[in-house]
Amino acid sequence: MLNSETVVGVIGAGAMGAGIAQVAAQKGHQVVIADAMAASVARAKDGHTRAMAREVEKGRLTREVADAVLSRITYVDGVSLELIGAMRACGFIIEAIVEDLSAKQTLFRTLERVIDSGAVLASNTSSLSIAALAGACSHPERVVGVHFFNPATLMPLVEIIPAITTRGDVALQARALMDTWGKVTVVAADTPGFIVNRVARPFYSEALRVYEEGLADAATIDWAMRELGGFKMGPFELMDLIGNDVNFAVTSSVFEAMFYDGRYRPANTQRRLVEAGLLGRKTKRGYYDYREGAVVPEANKDSALGQQIVDRVLAMLVNQAVDAVHQQVASPADIDLSMTKGVNYPKGLLAWGDEIGAAVVLERLDALHAEYLEERYRPSPLLRKTVRDGGRLLT
Ligand code: NAI
Repeated sequence: MLNSETVVGVIGAGAMGAGIAQVAAQKGHQVVIADAMAASVARAKDGHTRAMAREVEKGRLTREVADAVLSRITYVDGVSLELIGAMRACGFIIEAIVEDLSAKQTLFRTLERVIDSGAVLASNTSSLSIAALAGACSHPERVVGVHFFNPATLMPLVEIIPAITTRGDVALQARALMDTWGKVTVVAADTPGFIVNRVARPFYSEALRVYEEGLADAATIDWAMRELGGFKMGPFELMDLIGNDVNFAVTSSVFEAMFYDGRYRPANTQRRLVEAGLLGRKTKRGYYDYREGAVVPEANKDSALGQQIVDRVLAMLVNQAVDAVHQQVASPADIDLSMTKGVNYPKGLLAWGDEIGAAVVLERLDALHAEYLEERYRPSPLLRKTVRDGGRLLT
């Protein structure tokens, strides 16, 4: 049984692993964090030390408590033998290594040789199939997806993803553990992109469509989505923050995993940016220019144009959320919770769709579908049914 006495193992000390380890240690667990690269481990340790110092400075933690948190974390780096050996005492092991199926499969197979028979093996993968990870293991029943959001210390959402082979109580235990960490947990089917990375796709891809057609530039679309749509960030500034390489990789992987369903087709514009090395803030150029002295582009604050953009992107987002319900990816309530708690959407999309009116959303999609004759605009059968029955989307 997983509980506060469980030693937590985190493999991969990058952005996500470091955050997850910090959350676990703050919740009282002994934590072992391991990474093949000494530099990553050093960076994680430094990050934890600075995070705890900040907590003390802001009066949120006493020095004693902060020191106790840090003392609960053991840092391991080096070759796989050391790394794997350090996981022997762990009852809950979560990997946050590179997003590569064969690297993760190799890691799990190696871990299985040393870990306790009752240990749970979790993956923080954003886009890989949990079944494929479990399938590489001799005990697939203890493998489960436990997907955090960036930054793991701040974003409350955790998606729990049981594979077909996951034992029921393993998913329940993982969920209960995350609940004790103060996370908001939702259960997602083991389908491409799970909930958030599936439902959020049109936020980027439909904005890119509007941009590619020359209806508006990035600054105008961002302004519209922020000011009229109520989103914290516009799609282009957000892609620049996430990294165009990362965002393009997720889009491409969902597209491929969906057997090339046109709904998920990536955009050429983004591919070109990646090819050119314009990855966003981290390379100082993406959709925007972040170099010193660069001119900040002005948005065209035409409210009719802005509303048209918001209406189009929102219709696509609501349709995605409805289709996720239709395909039983998660419950309606969990889908709405995921978008507000995982990626800060101002409202749940199903509730938002009800507010706009399911019939209005359907009308917008039908119009787009008729105009473009493209699969991406097809309304979800559940949206049509809801309108026909006069029902609500958030049930
Ligand atoms: P990162 O690149 O910051 O960190 C990955 C770390 O794993 C690096 O320190 C690397 O040295 C280490 N590593 C790679 N292969 C290893 C191996 N075989 N053994 C031990 N260590 C190894 O990556 P990040 O962003 O932390 O992502 C990690 C995982 O979390 C990926 O699966 C990613 O898809 C997922 N994820 C990422 C999110 C994000 O916003 N960055 C959000 C949610 C999930």
